[in-house]
Amino acid sequence: MIVFRFEGRPITAEEGQSIGAALHAAGIRSWRTTRFGGRPRGLFCAIGACFDCLLTVNGAPDQRACQTVARAGDEVSG
Ligand code: FES
Repeated sequence: MIVFRFEGRPITAEEGQSIGAALHAAGIRSWRTTRFGGRPRGLFCAIGACFDCLLTVNGAPDQRACQTVARAGDEVSG
């Protein structure tokens, strides 16, 4: 198991697990909102096709949570 941080909160993930899967397992279902309408977004397709799951990882914006493997010490935000 590894630990990364989502908006300051420690999140435990299995080695090789995606950030999106780890957030989902932790009960976090959305981490950003749409530009128009402010609707919540998180995992949708979970296969890298829809880009609904974008977040920032270690300062790098627009990373797909469903395709990004969680690493120990990552700092993640919506
Ligand atoms: S959930 Fe669709 S690209 Fe990540």
